Amino acid sequence: MTTSKRIGRAEACANIALAKYWGKSDRGDNLTAVPSLSLSLDALRTRTEVVFDDRLEHDVVSMGGQEVTGRPLERVSTHLDRLRERAGFKLHARVTSENNFPTAAGLASSASGFAALATAAAQAAGLTLTQAELSSFARKSSASAGRSLFEGFAILDAETDQSQALAPRGHWDVAMVVAVITSGPKPIGSTGGMEHTKRTCPYYPAWQQVARSVFEQVKEGVERRDFAQVADAMEHSTRLMHATMISSLPPVLYLKGPTVELMHEIHRRRALGEPVAYTMDAGPNVKVLTTSAHVDATVAFLEETPGVQRVIVCRPGPGASTLSAAGPLLEAEREDKLQMPAFSLPSSAVRGTGS
Ligand code: DP6
Repeated sequence: MTTSKRIGRAEACANIALAKYWGKSDRGDNLTAVPSLSLSLDALRTRTEVVFDDRLEHDVVSMGGQEVTGRPLERVSTHLDRLRERAGFKLHARVTSENNFPTAAGLASSASGFAALATAAAQAAGLTLTQAELSSFARKSSASAGRSLFEGFAILDAETDQSQALAPRGHWDVAMVVAVITSGPKPIGSTGGMEHTKRTCPYYPAWQQVARSVFEQVKEGVERRDFAQVADAMEHSTRLMHATMISSLPPVLYLKGPTVELMHEIHRRRALGEPVAYTMDAGPNVKVLTTSAHVDATVAFLEETPGVQRVIVCRPGPGASTLSAAGPLLEAEREDKLQMPAFSLPSSAVRGTGS
């Protein structure tokens, strides 16, 4: 019996929003209510392989070596359905995906995950799509994933399906140092957390207005490579977003004690002239923006901070890309295993292991 198989493989980096979005547009389609601007993080990556196979009766998805069911499986299948519709076929797929960092802990695993999935699935489906088109597919599954298609600094517009590269990775010699405070799953996912905030936070309309002007300040600061401007605007964006979460009823409170201690410490250091600024997503981990020249000093103080379990140094990263179709990985007959090389954080990026 002849079988039909179509294979694609891709890799994408996580990204961190320097100007945050929180809340979806009333127009639907997973569009965001406010614009956002991100930096791709080279050390935090997802690799995904998609094999459309006519012998499969349903999609089979494995993440980090575990087969997934329920909502995570549904999200992947819905994503594949959109690409299958575009490609005009109905084959089910075996999807194998791996992160080199902890999932669901505010390290943007859905961003790199859906960017890698869109890229691998499009390759497997034989679709030739632009980055903007892939971004549009990715953002329908997870809005922040729409930014992980692009290298360096990227923009996701509000209320429309537009996204764009703002500047390549070489534009600005900065680093984002991640202080991991907890690597466990978060108490409430981003999607539910932002729906709840939109419904119950009395300040949500004010956030929608101010987020746009903060976005413009971050954008201008990045374009001009103005550390002080980006530092102030990025931190403001972070506090504004967390303020809407905290003032929801009941509160959506992701920050932990060490997170807040680090905010104080970073304010203190910047007042003394150090180029350090914080940002936090839907989790307690603190990402510290700094200059390349100040990475070692930043790592040193983060490693000494009580409650910081691990420090990961990220430089501006590449956009999502397909991985070579040549070689044993794609041609291997084993279908139950991730057919990719061992995948872990680069040792140069991991600086601290104590607690
Ligand atoms: C706090 O894009 O992960 O990181 O589209 O519902 O999957 P879904 O949400 P997601 O939310 C991320 C929000 C944020 C801020 C940001 O990245 O702009």
